[in-house]
Amino acid sequence: MTTRHTVTAALPYSNGRLHVGHIAGCYLPADIYARYLRSIGEEVAFICGSDDYGVPVSLTAREEGREPAEVAAYYRAEQKNDFDGLGISLDIFSGTSATDIHTEVSQHFFLALLQNGYLEKRTSVQLYDPEAGRFLPDRYVEGTCPHCETGGARGDQCEACGKMLEPSKLISPESVITGARPEKRETVHWFFLLPKLQDRLREWIRSHPEWRPMVRNFSLGLLEQGLPERAITRDLDWGIPVPLEDDPDAEGKVLYVWFDAPIGYVSFTAQWCAEQEGDPDGYERWWKDPDCRIVHFIGEDNVVFHAITWPAMLMAEGTFELPDFIPANCFLNIQFPGEEETKISKSRGTAVWINQYLEEYDPDPLRYYLTMIAPERQRTAFVFDDLIRRNNEELVAALGNFVHRNMTFAHRYFDGRVPRRGDLTEEDRRQLAMIAELPDRVAALLADFSFRDALGQVMEAARESNRYFDCREPWALRKEARASCGTVINICLNTIKALGVVMEPFLPFAAGKVARMLPVAGDGLNWAQAADPLPEDLELGEPEILFEKLEELSEE
Ligand code: MF3
Ligand code: ZN
Repeated sequence: MTTRHTVTAALPYSNGRLHVGHIAGCYLPADIYARYLRSIGEEVAFICGSDDYGVPVSLTAREEGREPAEVAAYYRAEQKNDFDGLGISLDIFSGTSATDIHTEVSQHFFLALLQNGYLEKRTSVQLYDPEAGRFLPDRYVEGTCPHCETGGARGDQCEACGKMLEPSKLISPESVITGARPEKRETVHWFFLLPKLQDRLREWIRSHPEWRPMVRNFSLGLLEQGLPERAITRDLDWGIPVPLEDDPDAEGKVLYVWFDAPIGYVSFTAQWCAEQEGDPDGYERWWKDPDCRIVHFIGEDNVVFHAITWPAMLMAEGTFELPDFIPANCFLNIQFPGEEETKISKSRGTAVWINQYLEEYDPDPLRYYLTMIAPERQRTAFVFDDLIRRNNEELVAALGNFVHRNMTFAHRYFDGRVPRRGDLTEEDRRQLAMIAELPDRVAALLADFSFRDALGQVMEAARESNRYFDCREPWALRKEARASCGTVINICLNTIKALGVVMEPFLPFAAGKVARMLPVAGDGLNWAQAADPLPEDLELGEPEILFEKLEELSEE
């Protein structure tokens, strides 16, 4: 087992706030994983920041009548609030336009690729908007996808089939700025010679049979078709300048946003190391050490960039390690009462926004629900009433109830202390065995990125524990068999401790309450000691309600 892990979550474009789809796609699973690793005592760098450059932010700036840098800074701060409110435990949330470090590292990559023979300058034909008097890269053009013939495909990628596109390949292209039909004009760009890396990429992906089929087969399929040479520069004024001062062709050119964005993972790590230890080179421990495991959490639309182009950039640069795992989730759809399941979309108003959710509700129920419906292998749908129902029937009725009934029992009848554990019955032994193996059972699923099943195990353990409590009837034992009653409550309090540890990656706010109720000295609650017995006579904290019962919206 390695002891160091670089965990990244896809950089959100800083042109809007975050909704439940973003969170279910990569931020929540990444957080669960990072929290779990910390709990087992591994070293973790959990890295993210906003994706500021490129067309998405420029277009929003246009619509809002502001400068792109202003838009990026604004939404970056809002996104940070959303993450904090949900307990996404990032070590750093920076932004690609936030510091000079990112500019430097990105320009380094460009120059290294050029020097190593992976970039070539070419004259190419690009779409040009004669009305706006400018080139139209990427999302500045929309049209019909040449592969799947879905309309409204963006110039850089088709959302429907996931394929990377070239604006010039779109059927019936239109300028997003003016609606004009673009013309073709020549311009100079630097191309990434991806075909040169095709064989290495294929070999590398084949060496990872453990990846999800969606990532592995999709990437192998693209490699089968042959990779194109791609321009990694653009004619735009918002982006990182091409660092070739002596070349007049480089004037007015910036790096393509999909070139600089993944480099953010590295540059934000460097920024974090600089801020933490005053040593920007500290990032090398996280990126250049074969014993450090690199894991990129992403959504399904980002697979090609993380399994093909980013690793190709790392190979071409030559001094970095490659990602070890790329857990990609599918999209989360949404369903409103009495309506069909649909895509989450800002423009169509079919989103549940994190800031609005957090104004009314606690973060844990959302974390719980999004993990229980996690689109790990196929698309799933968010249904608000299901969140409420599962909060009430599962979190409140099983987990919360078990904790509460035992805490109040211990306070009422055992002076708020952990009672002594006496002779054990068969049921007592079974319950102790269950909590002894629970951490390993949950850990095996977490290590396998099966977060939904892992949380299912936690909840099953809570239900089993309620059955244990009911079957031992401590309320009946209390008068005539006080020692046995103490044993049951002792075992239940120890169960709460184990549950508190294994629930922490998923439900950190509730786990924090458990930690206050069971104030164990030292490291507090951690994975290895999850099933170690609580000291007898330990003074318990005040009982706290883990989860509030919520009103169903449709009943209002
Ligand atoms: N901003 C992109 C998106 O939302 C993701 C960028 S991920 C990175 O689809 F790898 F480029 F950082
Ligand atoms: Zn398509």
